[in-house]
Amino acid sequence: MAKMEVKTSLLDNMIGVGDMVLLEPLDEDSFINNLKKRFDHSEVYTYIGSVVISINPYRSLPIYTPEKVEEYRNRNFYELSPHIFALSDEAYRSLRDQDKDQCILITGESGAGKTEASKLVMSYVAAVCGKGAEVNQVKEQLLQSNPVLEAFGNAKTVRNDNSSRFGKYMDIEFDFKGDPLGGVISNYLLEKSRVVKQPRGERNFHIFYQILSGASEDFLCKLKLERDFSRYNYLGLDSAKVNGVDDAANFRTVRNAMQIVGFMDHETQSVFEVVAAVLKLGNIEFKPESRVNGLDESKIKDKNELKEICELTGIDQSVLERAFSFRTVEAKQEKVSTTLNVAQAYYARDALAKNLYSRLFSWLVTRINESIKAQTKVRKKVMGVLDIYGFEIFEDNSFEQFIINYCNEKLQQIFIELTLKEEQEEYIREGIEWTHIEYFNNAIICDLIENNQTGILAMLDEECLRPGTVTDDTFLEKLNQVCATHQHFESRMSKCSRFLNDTSLPHSCFRIQHYAGKVMYQVEGFVDKNNDLLYRDLSQAMWKASHSLIKALFPEGNPAKINLKRPPTAGSQFKASVATLMKNLQTKNPNYIRCIKPNDKKAAHIFNDALVCHQVRYLGLLENVRVRRAGYAFRQAYEPCLERYKMLCKQTWPHWRGPARAGVEVLFNELEIPEEEFSFGRSKIFIRNPRTLFKLEDLRKQRLEDLATLIEKIYRGWKCRTRFLLMKKSQIVIASWYRRYAQQKKYQKIKSSAIIVQSYIRGWKARKLLRELKHQKRCNEAATIIAAYWHGTQARRELKRLKEEARRKHAVAVIWAYWLGLKVRREYRKFFRANAGRKIYEFTLQRLMQKYFLEMKNKMPSLSPIDKNWPARPYLFLDSTHKELKRIFHLWRCKKYRDQFTDQQKLIYEEKLEASELFKDKKALYPASVGQPFQGAYLEISKNPKYKKLKDAVDEKIIIAEVVNKINRANGKATSRIFLLTKNNVLLADQKSGNIKSEVPLGDVTKVSMSSQNDGFFAVHLKEGSGAAGKGDFLLSSDHLIEMATKLYRTTLSQTKQKLNIEISDEFLVQFRQDKVCVKFIQGSQKNGNIPTCKRKNNRLLEVAVP
Ligand SMILES: Nc1ncnc2c1ncn2[C@@H]1O[C@H](COP(=O)(O)OP(=O)(O)OP(=O)(O)O)[C@@H](O)[C@H]1O
Ligand SMILES: [Mg+2]
Repeated sequence: MAKMEVKTSLLDNMIGVGDMVLLEPLDEDSFINNLKKRFDHSEVYTYIGSVVISINPYRSLPIYTPEKVEEYRNRNFYELSPHIFALSDEAYRSLRDQDKDQCILITGESGAGKTEASKLVMSYVAAVCGKGAEVNQVKEQLLQSNPVLEAFGNAKTVRNDNSSRFGKYMDIEFDFKGDPLGGVISNYLLEKSRVVKQPRGERNFHIFYQILSGASEDFLCKLKLERDFSRYNYLGLDSAKVNGVDDAANFRTVRNAMQIVGFMDHETQSVFEVVAAVLKLGNIEFKPESRVNGLDESKIKDKNELKEICELTGIDQSVLERAFSFRTVEAKQEKVSTTLNVAQAYYARDALAKNLYSRLFSWLVTRINESIKAQTKVRKKVMGVLDIYGFEIFEDNSFEQFIINYCNEKLQQIFIELTLKEEQEEYIREGIEWTHIEYFNNAIICDLIENNQTGILAMLDEECLRPGTVTDDTFLEKLNQVCATHQHFESRMSKCSRFLNDTSLPHSCFRIQHYAGKVMYQVEGFVDKNNDLLYRDLSQAMWKASHSLIKALFPEGNPAKINLKRPPTAGSQFKASVATLMKNLQTKNPNYIRCIKPNDKKAAHIFNDALVCHQVRYLGLLENVRVRRAGYAFRQAYEPCLERYKMLCKQTWPHWRGPARAGVEVLFNELEIPEEEFSFGRSKIFIRNPRTLFKLEDLRKQRLEDLATLIEKIYRGWKCRTRFLLMKKSQIVIASWYRRYAQQKKYQKIKSSAIIVQSYIRGWKARKLLRELKHQKRCNEAATIIAAYWHGTQARRELKRLKEEARRKHAVAVIWAYWLGLKVRREYRKFFRANAGRKIYEFTLQRLMQKYFLEMKNKMPSLSPIDKNWPARPYLFLDSTHKELKRIFHLWRCKKYRDQFTDQQKLIYEEKLEASELFKDKKALYPASVGQPFQGAYLEISKNPKYKKLKDAVDEKIIIAEVVNKINRANGKATSRIFLLTKNNVLLADQKSGNIKSEVPLGDVTKVSMSSQNDGFFAVHLKEGSGAAGKGDFLLSSDHLIEMATKLYRTTLSQTKQKLNIEISDEFLVQFRQDKVCVKFIQGSQKNGNIPTCKRKNNRLLEVAVP
């Protein structure tokens, strides 16, 4: 859902006045009251124009939620109630959209909330800038660098429980889209004296307490530490615990942050080892030992701690021990070694601890920079966030406070430069009507400190480098001489008569009247701290460590790189780095957050008017409002102004050809901006009210949208036209190709049609020609035919004529013959009747006979005796002749047929003839036997060895040898017997053994009986009283009955010259022993197929059923 744009303003629901510029009346009281009123209503932010005043609420307010971030995102600065997010958004958008590098300057005294403000700025920017895995990692690393640096560089002070003890300036780098690429952190002078000594009520750096509270037993053991704070001399005991701070939890946060930033495990381990070593260094104690030569010497009391340090750091114990006892001074080629007394030994120990810790801190910053370094080389936009230690006044202020306060002076200076001085000077420079506003310029204090000749830092350096005895007192003396007349410098010994009576000032102190108040500095330690001296023996001992991190922290300990030149002093180093920082800040667009501390108790809801009033005064906020009120909220050179807003007016858009100032005038007139809202300077336009600027911005935004629409319109038009032209061109190409194709097709069609037409025409012509040719041919043929017909006609006519002629001639001849005959008959009629009739009859008969025989000759049937064909009789009178001739012919051809036969065949046919005579038309079995050749010896007795005996018994020629069934006389059942017929006998033998059962001479056979039917039964009747007739007649049955009966008949005839009686009857009598039995043949059923069955019915009857 689109978010509803609700136009709100700073003025809506305002508590007090959101922007001090609107405060009426403007004086100190109303200013403080306004702040107080707002503070009481939890409104901790108030504007002075574009400067944000932030009052530390000392409690968490619900105004930093993601919803708030969204609320302030992309909104005009004055649209919503004052907030640090509004300033961050303004800075970020100005960086992203207008390509202006930004810096966010956060100032205020210690505990005013600078560090918190800087973190809020960073988290806001991180929330609104680009997203994506890579970008998020960069953001996370940038944000997580804070807890690490805070743990090592922050400490509890009386003013702030989390006081920054180092200055930090962080450049966040962005690409052209506004996505973060990386960052660079610069650190400024860590307050390292805190490592060895803390003022009452304060703590050492957080990390020491965090390790001891948060590390596991195991880890502590590895670091050779004990959990008890009181074990360590370097840890101030009176405030080891801070209310509301969980050191153990913070330790885990720090370790996690180190991991996110990219510290390797071994690096983290090394860092904590160094921290442990520093802590343990504090426990090394010395005792005096007098030497014989009277020199004081020191000795380590308990070497156990030293041993453990050496184990942790990998340093040879003797080397370190020696470094704590001796000091080697090298001058030119000489090397002088002196012993250290107890005080010197302690000094050396503390110097080592401080150096070790501060170098570790610098190493950490370098290491973090390595991780968060932008990976690309593209041009970067930069947003710098400056968070330094705030202005502070302690009971005992030393070199560190001096440096810190100097830094704050410089920042105040830059604020004055840019907001008060520069602005007012600019109005004058630009010729804008202006009444000068008084303000305090702290340049004079800066000069007191940093002046190259007479500045305090220069004095200190001079003192440090001076040969001879140099002490803090000599330094103070020098100051007294040089700075005594300075307005802002005070000391007891000052020559300035004004302060002669100032007994409040101790002897060893000097006081500077800073912009934020008077601060008394103890001069003690200034020279030492400025010198920042570490005995070479110690740095060399450190360099010899096998611990790689410690070795790297002390490069000057390398004997190969001995540098006899003094290193720059701490003061001059700091001055130089602050100068670079100021230069850097001046190149960027400044955004101010001025932090104010509401009370000294670090408590919520308490608004100490006096304290706030003091801060408001020294921060010059009232002057800031005055300048702001009298002046103009915004200024810009004419060219960029015209460039930015020229699209709002027809005359200036798109090009203005005159001078830029005239263009801006035209533009503002056209937009009808009230005249009191702007002024024309020499090179810049000044806009009084931010609202006017916002109006311009809104109009511009609106116009840009219109222009974008216009561009889009033109682009779309262009795109469509290009597309149209392309399509048109394509269409022509396609059309031409299509036309070509169509024409080709048409041409092909025409061509093929032409070929078809052509072929038709050719065909037609050819056919025409053919027709003509055919016609011609036919004509020719017709002529020929006509000629032929004509010739034919002629020939037929000729033939006809010739035939006519011949007929006529024949007719003539016939007529002539008839006439002749007539003539002869007339002449011979008288003789004809007596003879002619008989002669003609004979002649005719003769002629007919002749003709008959000639025809018969041609019509003769075949010579086969069974051919029944015979030509029809032609004349009735030849009937008997014709039959006779048929008979003769048949006899003749039979004879012819017989003549072909061999003797064997003749015999067979004789037998067949005999059979025919005997059985034809008598026995129904006969016709089936005609086609069967009579073989006689069906059993080959001689060849079968089984019948050898039988063969031997029969010495005559065997006529018949065949198996027959002998019918049992008693029951009519059949038994197989071999039936043999020889010349003289009939024999019956056993079929299996070949034994002769009966032998009957042919003479004893009287008769053979059989039925007229289709069966093979026959009875052989024997002569009564003969030898063979004992058992009676034989009733037999055979498949070759006709042949057997015939052969029996013939053999009997030839042997006995008597005809054998063959009786064919369906009922006959047979003699069985003494009985005469009647054998009767009846029509039987076809139960047993075609086989006849024989059954003895009774004594007298044997019935044969023939199917
Ligand atoms: N916006 C805020 N909301 C809630 N508490 C705040 C806010 N700003 C500051 N504080 C509280 O005030 C304390 C001090 O703030 P901070 O550390 O930012 O001060 P500082 O100005 O950086 O001081 P120093 O100069 O000593 O570093 C914080 O620890 C926090 O408890
Ligand atoms: Mg801080």
